[in-house]
Amino acid sequence: MSAPAAVTGSDGGGVDPFIRFSDVSLRYGGASGTLAVQGATLDIARGGFAAIVGPSGCGKSTLLKMVSGLIAPTTGQVQVDGKPVKGPLGFVGMAFQNPTPLPWYNVLDNVMLPLRIVEPYRSAYRARYDEYRAKAEALLEVVGLRGFGEKKPWQLSGGMLQRASLCRALIHEPALLLLDEPFGALDAFTREELWGVLQDLWLARRPTVMLITHDLAESVLLSETVYVMSARPGRILHHETVPFPRPRRLDVMYEPAFVSMVQRLRQQIGDARAEGMKVA
Ligand SMILES: Nc1ncnc2c1ncn2[C@@H]1O[C@H](COP(=O)(O)OP(=O)(O)O)[C@@H](O)[C@H]1O
Ligand SMILES: [Mg+2]
Repeated sequence: MSAPAAVTGSDGGGVDPFIRFSDVSLRYGGASGTLAVQGATLDIARGGFAAIVGPSGCGKSTLLKMVSGLIAPTTGQVQVDGKPVKGPLGFVGMAFQNPTPLPWYNVLDNVMLPLRIVEPYRSAYRARYDEYRAKAEALLEVVGLRGFGEKKPWQLSGGMLQRASLCRALIHEPALLLLDEPFGALDAFTREELWGVLQDLWLARRPTVMLITHDLAESVLLSETVYVMSARPGRILHHETVPFPRPRRLDVMYEPAFVSMVQRLRQQIGDARAEGMKVA
């Protein structure tokens, strides 16, 4: 098993890291509370695509919340774009496993929500409404939701809501995409389709992406670097650069090198579990 300390990303990280965790720990609920993350050090390059995998409850979502400024580290520091994170960041797009649309807005208004909130879009919202709306409609079309803009969230299936929530994460062309198991609750066909959508968007615009997933094949298919976390308290145990050329088609998942990388990661997670049990 690799050493838990000071694992640094190799996807160009170090040269121009966009996200930097320096020995970050997070304890929920005060001094006697739950140590969720311990000594996490990692870099994600500007325009990089990192996947974080690890057993359930190991602190993956907690890492993401610290990047977005929703919670602050107990010790250590999280930097985004060279500056310590002090509060919620405007240039972030987020999507979660369970979509969180506003029920009284239709789909289009939900997708356009970041444009109402985030500058410089916010001040121009009324003046440029038609343009913004056309952009939202174009995105809905990309994810196969053409014509659903006027529907209310309750009129859509879970998979459709997840597509819409990806549109909402992307509408303001954020420099940073934080994705917390966004494909976890989808059927296999929708998931494969949205993998393609996400990859194409990343190749076209190159936002920095941090993807949390428990699907190892998904992490290898989509990311440049996979980080493996230990069981709680979550530490970064290992990282591996994904060598497969882009664009990656689904057939790459059947190639021996892909299968063996997934198996290797699975082995590391197994080790991580055993390690966690020793600690507990
Ligand atoms: N707000 C909170 N208060 C107390 N404990 C929490 C809170 N959020 C998460 N935890 C605990 O911290 C640990 C890590 O949680 P989380 O980051 O959500 O894990 P993951 O996303 O890897 O499943 C879990 O044991 C969880 O129960
Ligand atoms: Mg989580």
